[in-house]
Amino acid sequence: CPYGKTRDNCEAECFIKVEEVFEQYGEQGCAIIVEPLLQGSAGMKIYPPLYLKKLRSLCDQYDVLLIADEIATGFGRTGKMFACDHAGITPDIMCVSKGLTGGYLPMAITITTEEVYQAFYADYKEGKAFMHSHTYSGNPLGCSAALAVQKILKEDFVLEKAKKRAGYLTEQLNSKLLDRDYVGEIRHIGLIHAIELVEDKKTKRGFSSEERVGYQIYKEALQNGLLLRPLGNVLYFNPPLIIDEEEIDEAIKRCVKSIDSYMVSRI
Ligand SMILES: Cc1ncc(COP(=O)(O)O)c(C=O)c1O
Repeated sequence: CPYGKTRDNCEAECFIKVEEVFEQYGEQGCAIIVEPLLQGSAGMKIYPPLYLKKLRSLCDQYDVLLIADEIATGFGRTGKMFACDHAGITPDIMCVSKGLTGGYLPMAITITTEEVYQAFYADYKEGKAFMHSHTYSGNPLGCSAALAVQKILKEDFVLEKAKKRAGYLTEQLNSKLLDRDYVGEIRHIGLIHAIELVEDKKTKRGFSSEERVGYQIYKEALQNGLLLRPLGNVLYFNPPLIIDEEEIDEAIKRCVKSIDSYMVSRI
């Protein structure tokens, strides 16, 4: 952190950068898009709810729409139904997909406030309705899958059970990997856990990008029957919400074995 803060004492000091941007462009800006709390493909970076709260207030102050991309975080991935719930905020537009149908069928929804909806709406006679549509809007199969998933999430207490599994995953990953020289941080939100691999544990300096450490470990893991998806020097777990403890143990065992054998091979 450029402000010398840790997760325990972070007060979203870096938000000052957003304030500067709003000062410069806020009056002419119409919307800002964020991945709430978790920047996925940027390296599974997790930031505090306070940052989102501040952003909501700033958007209100400048009358800028807040668009939350909850495609990766929605439907329990971060431990709450939506990542925005951690901050107690409501975006003006929210994008959801992936977990909506449990990944079984392709479906996405863009959800807006009544105010935004009304800006698009007009009586036919006025001739100013926004007539664009989507080829697969409201696909009946997709909708059925989405409704079934929502019913299961609620009736089977999936989020509540996933919370326990998330705690178990944190505990196990920490106990098996945190003391390794090459692990700089294990960060997590809900069941999502990211392992940051570093060359220097003290300074947290990562491995050179030329070495493609994550990709090398990914190949090693394939040999061990585990499919990992590396993002640079970051390996992450983003398992199904219904994963059980036995499966967690097995995945961690194979993951640790894969990392260890790569680290030994590079000496
Ligand atoms: C945060 C985020 N936004 C958007 C997308 C793309 O979503 P879709 O495939 O539903 O268009 C992804 C896909 O990985 C994502 O992770």
